Amino acid sequence: MHQTVHVELGERSYDVEIGPDLLAQAGIRIAPLLRRPKVAVVTDENVGALHLDALRDGLASAGIEMTSLTLPAGESTKSWPHFERTVEWLLAEKVERRDVVIAFGGGVIGDLVGFAAAVLRRGVRFVQIPTSLLAQVDSSVGGKTGINAPQGKNLIGAFHQPSLVLADTSVLGTMTQRDFLSGYGEVVKYGLLGDSDFFDWLETNGTDVSGGDMAARVRAVTRSVQMKADIVARDETEQGDRALLNLGHTFCHALEAATGYSDRLLHGEGVAIGCALAFELSSRLGLCSQEDPSRVRAHLRAMGMKTDLADIPGDLPSAEALVDLMAQDKKVIDGQLRFILARGIGQAFVTSDVPRDAVISVLEDALATV
Ligand code: GLY
Repeated sequence: MHQTVHVELGERSYDVEIGPDLLAQAGIRIAPLLRRPKVAVVTDENVGALHLDALRDGLASAGIEMTSLTLPAGESTKSWPHFERTVEWLLAEKVERRDVVIAFGGGVIGDLVGFAAAVLRRGVRFVQIPTSLLAQVDSSVGGKTGINAPQGKNLIGAFHQPSLVLADTSVLGTMTQRDFLSGYGEVVKYGLLGDSDFFDWLETNGTDVSGGDMAARVRAVTRSVQMKADIVARDETEQGDRALLNLGHTFCHALEAATGYSDRLLHGEGVAIGCALAFELSSRLGLCSQEDPSRVRAHLRAMGMKTDLADIPGDLPSAEALVDLMAQDKKVIDGQLRFILARGIGQAFVTSDVPRDAVISVLEDALATV
């Protein structure tokens, strides 16, 4: 059932291994990267309590010794204080230029530890072992690393590609259903942005994916990673096509800011709602058929996911205020809002040519149902 996706980036190329029970094989899979049988692992309290022993055993089975740092779980860990603590710990552990650091957790740990590896001794190699669906299908692949600033999310960071990604799909079994479905928002995004056959497959098999069917999970993660790998190989540093991965994200970032980056809206939930709004906007601009946004919303609904603004608990600001929040997004260029729109399911494209009035009208109608 194991799959390998190769990310082709010349001398920075690497494999993403996907499948069940990979933690048990971590040692044999990581050993070829090591100059000495020792790794430094950074994790968070939740993942550490559930899975650190399994990783230690998997490494030990290949004779690899492990030292570990456990950080608090949650987005606030992606900050200067925990970054400083991580870098100083890695130095105290005498991690050398030729050693390998392991990021063992979800997106927060992957981004923080990847950034620490990028700057430690001007760059050491690191391995991503993503433990959430969102991290497996998105943040562990592609080399975006970093932390949040008081001024906004992910404003401090570096491109630093991992040397290997091990996506153990068994570990997903310990996620809450809400967190899993949030990650599924990113999976749907891949079908919507570039592969209508994959979206068809998700319509039929999505409940198997969320219900725990391992073959379905491996297939969903593998197709998502393959799509991301292809896009990253074409455009590593987001000069063009990589922006397609931001389908749904312009709306999502405004909604996340409006809800204070709180438990009211998880990132993948915002992406799912944002994808539905991006298709609504595309349809109103005459780019895709009216059936497409209905189909997107029907699938999200069938999966039990947040689909509409009405699904976000609490009050939301006006349409004008939401568009102002979009304008603060770091991907705005010369004050121009950038959207990912679609000519149909699987046919997304990047544009800055979107009338503000059209965005306001989509949001006003969406807010009217709240
Ligand atoms: N998550 C979007 C990207 O990696 O480009």
